[in-house]
Amino acid sequence: MSGDSAGSSAPIRTLGILGAGKVGTVLARRALEAGYEVLISGSGDPAAIALITSVLAPGARAVRPEEAAREADAVILALPLGRFRELPVEALRGTLVIDAMNHWWETDGASEELGGPAASTSELVQEHLAGARVVKALNHMGYHDLDERALPAGDPDRLAIAIAGAPDDADRAARLIDALGFDPLVIGDLRSGVRLQPFAGAFGAATDREGLARIIEEFPRTERGREVLAALEPAALEPAAGGNGSMDA
Ligand SMILES: NC(=O)c1ccc[n+]([C@@H]2O[C@H](COP(=O)([O-])OP(=O)(O)OC[C@H]3O[C@@H](n4cnc5c(N)ncnc54)[C@H](OP(=O)(O)O)[C@@H]3O)[C@@H](O)[C@H]2O)c1
Repeated sequence: MSGDSAGSSAPIRTLGILGAGKVGTVLARRALEAGYEVLISGSGDPAAIALITSVLAPGARAVRPEEAAREADAVILALPLGRFRELPVEALRGTLVIDAMNHWWETDGASEELGGPAASTSELVQEHLAGARVVKALNHMGYHDLDERALPAGDPDRLAIAIAGAPDDADRAARLIDALGFDPLVIGDLRSGVRLQPFAGAFGAATDREGLARIIEEFPRTERGREVLAALEPAALEPAAGGNGSMDA
């Protein structure tokens, strides 16, 4: 259930998914297989997604976005980023929100705010969703891989999914991602999510935990990484004395 009383360690039993397109329906199916109760929504009337839900994620309940947000223990955002200001702020207060959205110019149009080098899009989502506990995850892997390459823990071919956010929230998201069939890799605070956005090396990556960690560590030394870090925080380009390995942006 939504609300501060849910606390940061409450087990997730009911998962809300906002967005019933390619990613939303894949994640709904994965979550049902993992034993979660799933509430899924499109932008409005649940009747509009009833058929697609019954075919692609049988067992998931099609609801309005506000109902999924209010009733779920955690919510995945799987809608176009350009529509994030439609998200129900009050219903998501206190809830773990996993932001799987990316700026996609074909859908969202050109936008400096969402796609420029200074765009830390999950921080924008967090600003809008005052009181929600936003982490970034599940955005960097294509939906085909999310659909077809989930594996049980311990399988040597298991792929990794990175998570950026506050430690307790990231840990909670990590347990969910593990249950969905992927190795979680917590990389740092919400701002470090810029390392997972389009044009970063991790975007589209389908690799194991070590490989993904290497790609993400490499970010400041890539052309896009230098551009993003310079735009966000010029001081971040200075080499840290006795670096502690933290990946915070
Ligand atoms: N495609 C991928 O491989 C992939 C992988 C990882 C992450 N992502 C990200 O995941 C998000 C969804 O991508 P997609 O490919 O699944 O898109 P999609 O197939 O176009 O589906 C988008 C869904 O979002 C719904 N939606 C729109 N506005 C909404 C709102 N205000 N509240 C709730 N639902 C709303 C749409 O419903 P209506 O029809 O009612 O508008 C539709 O069901 C994007 O941000 C994308 O960058 C995509």
